[in-house]
Amino acid sequence: MTLNVAVQMDPIERINIRGDSTFALLLEAQQRGHSIAYYTPDRLAMRDGEVFATVQPLKVRDREGDHFSLGDAERRKLTTFDAILLRQDPPFDLAYITSTHLLERVQPATLVINEPAAVRNAPEKMFVMEFPDLMPPTLITRDLAEIKRFRAEHGDIVMKPLYGKGGEAVFRLAEQDLNFGSLYDLFSTTFREQWVVQKFLPAVREGDKRIILVDGEFAGAVNRVPAPDDLRSNMVRGGTPTETELTKREREICLRLGPALRSRGLLFVGIDVIDGYLTEINVTSPTGIRAVKNFGGPDVAAMIWDRIEAKRAG
Ligand SMILES: Nc1ncnc2c1ncn2[C@@H]1O[C@H](COP(=O)(O)OP(=O)(O)O)[C@@H](O)[C@H]1O
Ligand SMILES: [Mg+2]
Repeated sequence: MTLNVAVQMDPIERINIRGDSTFALLLEAQQRGHSIAYYTPDRLAMRDGEVFATVQPLKVRDREGDHFSLGDAERRKLTTFDAILLRQDPPFDLAYITSTHLLERVQPATLVINEPAAVRNAPEKMFVMEFPDLMPPTLITRDLAEIKRFRAEHGDIVMKPLYGKGGEAVFRLAEQDLNFGSLYDLFSTTFREQWVVQKFLPAVREGDKRIILVDGEFAGAVNRVPAPDDLRSNMVRGGTPTETELTKREREICLRLGPALRSRGLLFVGIDVIDGYLTEINVTSPTGIRAVKNFGGPDVAAMIWDRIEAKRAG
């Protein structure tokens, strides 16, 4: 079965093909003979209730510096595609939210991965709060008294933005840290929204594990170990990917999340687990599938296309 596929993504010339999961999905799609049309979010339009985009046929190659070529632009009604991959980087702002509203309209004619309304409702550090028993003690607030109370109870804490990414502005405040007051002032002037206060997990030294779930089932995992001089495990902050397996607790976490992800149409998800505690559920083309394959693990891109093709067939 060959599909008409579109990909809505940030400019393809700017992605890092070594780590990009959508790029891995595009390579696999092309190998399966699916046609691929490319557009950036600024080419979306809704007219009289129907959604259009000016798209270009896309060919991909796994070659850095020469990873794509584009054909002639053409205006297409998005419901003429069988499937649309949604890959948009933060910020999670009104532009982002509006594009999920537009994409929501192409269903059920077109399968969008992931389901746009569910993506909109699942910012990665907010969605996890539906599973508080799987998480480290976590507070979302900008109220000073609340944070002081939490700090008095837990001592060693982390403060981080609610809509941060790539380890941006993640701070550890040890029990006696005198910078707390200033950091509070800085956060409250920098961010208009609430932020995350979390118990510090010392075992982060052993890594922050990315676990990929496809249609609610465990598909692959990679651990990310922070550099010796940094708290943050993110690869862009010098974290190192290492081969890994799931612990019993991590399997339990997957089993708990599976039904919630499946029922929302969150087909391709990456969760993050530190020391057996769930910290994030990423629903917008999470990185990790290329690393999993490089370590000799399963071909998650193939698993995802198997699921998409099955859904389109049935
Ligand atoms: N509660 C915590 N305890 C220990 N380390 C943490 C904690 N929260 C975050 N970190 C470290 O900071 C990194 C980035 O934080 P994370 O919550 O994953 O935000 P981001 O969205 O920026 O990746 C994590 O990978 C981990 O190394
Ligand atoms: Mg993270």
